[in-house]
This record gives sequence, structure tokens and C-alpha cells, in this order.
Amino acid sequence: MIFQTDQISLAAQLIINGEIVAFPTETVYGLGASIFQPDAIIKIFLAKGRRHDNPLIAHISNFEQLKQIASEPPSQFFQLAKYFFPGPLTIILSKKESVPNIASANLPTIGIRMPAHPVAKALIDAVGHPLVAPSANLSGKPSSTTALHVMQDFGDKIGGVIDGGASFLGIESTVIVLNPQPTILRPGSITKEALESVLKEPFFYANENCERPLCPGTKYRHYAPNAKVKLFYEKSTFEKYQNSRKKQFILNNLEPKNLYSLFRQADAENYEEIVIHCHDAIQKNQALMNRLLKASSFDEW
Ligand code: TXA
Ligand code: MG
Repeated sequence: MIFQTDQISLAAQLIINGEIVAFPTETVYGLGASIFQPDAIIKIFLAKGRRHDNPLIAHISNFEQLKQIASEPPSQFFQLAKYFFPGPLTIILSKKESVPNIASANLPTIGIRMPAHPVAKALIDAVGHPLVAPSANLSGKPSSTTALHVMQDFGDKIGGVIDGGASFLGIESTVIVLNPQPTILRPGSITKEALESVLKEPFFYANENCERPLCPGTKYRHYAPNAKVKLFYEKSTFEKYQNSRKKQFILNNLEPKNLYSLFRQADAENYEEIVIHCHDAIQKNQALMNRLLKASSFDEW
């Protein structure tokens, strides 16, 4: 079922009734459920094929809702929230008892994000409390940046999707933790430099290769199309690699907002390989490089 943006109250009612509904955000589409309904949250894990040790992000539309789910945010949270909320930033805080363990994968924490997309805000407002929402894609596959992508992955296995057009950033939020030191768990459009300039403290990048990474999702293979992703840093080797024996989807000038729809297009058209030139601007984009490196890794995460 596809809802139009004048049908948000219908979508909200489904969520209140314990269904799961996908909705647009400025980063990617999310697959939402009421944070206070464990039976609905289970449906998200089942629909995505998501591991139960991978926690969900809580999406809020105002600071009153924060009090329902997070306990004693440190002052740094408010400094960052004042500047970056609503927007593509997720901050991990201690959770309150009210948040079911299934939402946080039994961690004592919960990720907090206030999306900037007006449809996401209107939906959370209409439900009246926070929604948990992972990216609305099958686990391990490219995220969805349109309602059509969501329908292709889930069809009628979910309550529906609200069509808010294409997500304008196209890469998931930056995920950070503040204690014991400010750390980026997943890079996104809000950069390390932007975070440091607001907090006036250094941020570190989390080590993903340890046995118990701070961000559980980072240990799994992610964002990967069926086609093999090949990255080239030099234009000459990129050009030399292109040949007619393989069915190659050639990306010369990739933009972050198109990444996932191009991956999906390559799969829909049965390409064998996606061949990407990582020119300087791409290499400087930490978030985009993070997704490309994961998509191109053949190790099982
Ligand atoms: O832009 C986004 O963040 C999108 C939109 C829909 O808001 N959501 C999203 O959610 O990307 P998801 O579930 O696909 O990715 C969330 C990542 C996962 O790697 C998860 O392990 C990590 O954030 N995460 C969530 N809660 C966490 C927590 N309490 N502690 C550490 N990592 C957490
Ligand atoms: Mg995801």
C-alpha cells in the first residue's frame, strides 16, 4: 500500500495499531514501528531479516519525546542537538526502562535522531511518540531512497510506505557516541570537522574490526548489490579495466544521493560488475567511501 503525503494520519493509525510502515527521511527511507510496541518491533526484524543483536534508532519529532526514552543526556548532547537537530545525526544515549530491550538489542543505550524530513516529522507527531526505524531495505542490501525501492523489497509484507519522493541526501545518518569520548560509529553527511567545530572537542573513529564493535551493525556486510563492486582511484586503471567481455555498469561521476538507486538499477538490469571511479571528491567524502568500501568487500561481515 502506498500512502500519499495527505494520508499521513492513515499511516499513523496503522502504526498505532501495531503495524510497520515505511516513511521518507532526508537520508534514506526508514521502516517504522512504535517504540513502545515490542510485537510490532519484532515485525521489523522479521521483514528485514535483521539480526537481533543489531539495535534500532529512535526517531523523535520534539524534545519532549526525548524524556520518554533517554535518561540524563550529557550537556554535549544538547550542544550538538541545538546545532544539528533536526538533521542527519544519531546520538547514542542511555535508555530508559520504558524502551523495550528488543529495540536496543539488549544494550543499555538507544540512538536518538530527529529527522529533518517534513513527512517523517508529521508522522511521528501524528503517532504522538518516538518511532524506531532502521533503513527500509532487506538486511545487507542497498538502502531505499524512494517508495518504489521499499515496495520492491517488501511489497505487501509491511503495512505500507508513505511516498515522499526521493531522499535528498541518500546516505544514512552519522552515528556518534559521546562517552567515554566523542566517537563516530558510522560516518554520514555530518562530518567529523563539523562535529568538532560545534563541540570544540576531538572526535575519533570507532574501530570496526574488534570482536564487539561499538556499533553492532558495522560488523555485518552492508549496502551491497548483487553485482560485484570494483573501485578504482586512478582514472587510467579505471579506463583500462573496462571491457566488453563482462556486463559492466560504469560509474564515472558518482554522487552520494544516487548511490543506492544506481546499485539497485545495476541489479535490476543484471549487471555483473559495477565499476566506479573514486575521483578526489569521492575520496574526500568519508561517508560515501565508507559505503563503497563495505559494498566492495567480499568478506562476509
Ligand atoms: O539515516 C539513518 O540513520 C536511517 C534513517 C531511516 O533514519 N536509519 C538507519 O538505521 O540507517 P539502521 O538500523 O539501518 O542503521 C543504524 C546503525 C546500525 O549499524 C546499528 O548497529 C547502529 O546504528 N546503532 C543503533 N543503535 C545503536 C546503539 N544503541 N549503539 C550502537 N550502535 C547503534
Ligand atoms: Mg541500514
